[in-house]
Amino acid sequence: MNRTLYGKLIFELSKKGRKGYSLPQDYDRSHSTFELPESLRRKEAARLPECDELTVVRHYTNLSHNNFGVNDGFYPLGSCTMKYNPVINEEIAAMKAFAGLHPLQPAETCQGALEVYYNLQQSLAELAGLSEFTLNPCAGAHGELTGLMVIRAYHEAAPHSAPEGATDVKSADSKTTEAPSGAVGGASSRTKVLIPDSAHGTNPASAAVCGLEVVEVKSLADGTVDVDHLRQLLDELGDQVAAMMMTNPNTLGIFEPRVLEITEMVHKAGGLMYYDGANLNALLGECRPGDMGFDVMHINLHKTFSTPHGGGGPGSGPVGVRKGLEQFLPYPRVTRPTPDPSRQGGAELRIVTAPANERSEALPLTGERGEGLSVGSFFGNYGVMLKAYAYILSLGRENVKMVGPLATLNANYIKERLRDDYLLPIEGLCKHECVFDGLVDKSTGVTTMDVAKRLLDYGYHAPTIYFPLLFHESLMIEPTENESKETIDAFIDVMHTIAAEAKSDPELVKTAPHNTPIGRVDDVLAAKQPITTYWKSLEE
Ligand SMILES: Cc1ncc(COP(=O)(O)O)c(C=O)c1O
Repeated sequence: MNRTLYGKLIFELSKKGRKGYSLPQDYDRSHSTFELPESLRRKEAARLPECDELTVVRHYTNLSHNNFGVNDGFYPLGSCTMKYNPVINEEIAAMKAFAGLHPLQPAETCQGALEVYYNLQQSLAELAGLSEFTLNPCAGAHGELTGLMVIRAYHEAAPHSAPEGATDVKSADSKTTEAPSGAVGGASSRTKVLIPDSAHGTNPASAAVCGLEVVEVKSLADGTVDVDHLRQLLDELGDQVAAMMMTNPNTLGIFEPRVLEITEMVHKAGGLMYYDGANLNALLGECRPGDMGFDVMHINLHKTFSTPHGGGGPGSGPVGVRKGLEQFLPYPRVTRPTPDPSRQGGAELRIVTAPANERSEALPLTGERGEGLSVGSFFGNYGVMLKAYAYILSLGRENVKMVGPLATLNANYIKERLRDDYLLPIEGLCKHECVFDGLVDKSTGVTTMDVAKRLLDYGYHAPTIYFPLLFHESLMIEPTENESKETIDAFIDVMHTIAAEAKSDPELVKTAPHNTPIGRVDDVLAAKQPITTYWKSLEE
């Protein structure tokens, strides 16, 4: 590949008057049925690059070779769960019977597609130990916002009863956790959301977007929630607490050992427990958020159910709730009415829309509250749901139990084999990911950033760096359950090689990468002064 020529920007390859395709001379524009209003029309032509088709193809093919995906090699990006997306998922999502559907199609013409949608809702509910799921949110963070809106609606609905299942929360020795008693009645004062300081940034951001106030809960030195600080906050804030958001295993990959105590304390204070399901992969098949006492949760489908990553848009962040909170979930919903015993076969699935929505089409509403929360367009990202459902079915009930344990085994294997060279700040078993605090030997001045850059030279994607914020030189490695021992061993060898290089030739590591098309960039400048318009930069 000629990187020197085709690796240039498409604007640099542009030649005035060059075309990839021309409309026939006699093309009759009057056939166009759609006319843009005058006010929306451009006054001058857009300054698009002018290139022949072959140049365009070579340019973009060249660019695609610069990319690194999970299909190219090991991608140990901690906290992000870069899980392989099996090809069968793609094949199923691309089937014409699904891909050709229109979101406004009447329910009776797409019962098969609704069946898949409904079954995925049910499967997620079973895997999470909750009552009902909405598949409408389009990303994990979108799910957080949706879940918090559900919690806010629950507190605002007064008088109401506590979510039923909250009384069924299993504690280690008995069913002791009580329902969120304080939540009954007086609701609107509950505006505070407790969030551990180790949480992902989207947690406080979602709470703020939802109009709720964030209160930080401290972590202990081992990264787990400081339960004494939580108790103090609950005592101080009392009936102002709407919810506590928690990620478990937390963002350090550590299972919160006092989770049952925490959910019980928050319920007693009248708050609800929100489970950030970004790390559900670690627990899949082992234990369920509903059984730990969580009332509302989201799942990042891309992290646990092998769908492509969403980047906040084309993903999916289903939200599940405990029994008693279903009526606060957003519309539209897909429901199956109770079958009529006098008729053969299962009842038809229904699309249930909010009354305010013009599409209510006389379909009966479930749920008591009529306002009808709506969080996105139509039903969410149907193609992504198909992929997740394909993954669940291809694993099956038995194999799904292996996901969490295998992910945990792989992470602990890496942790134990790297600890001689990389500083392990937290002892003990981790779950699906492990965190190091840079190299053990700090005397060479080689940083986590340098190690990450040098890994690129060896053909690996870098782990997550400088997150979690609890340590100065965080290096967070997440292998997922799919990786073979050979892949993991080869990665470990390279990590040891880099540690040896840091001692013998620190400059080599500090100036890496050496084998990539672009060397080390000034990330701070790029973030602070991004140049997003090429023509503008030419003019300046
Ligand atoms: C713990 C945690 N919560 C929430 C999110 C946000 O998810 P999404 O990127 O799908 O919006 C992430 C994303 O990495 C995460 O790691």
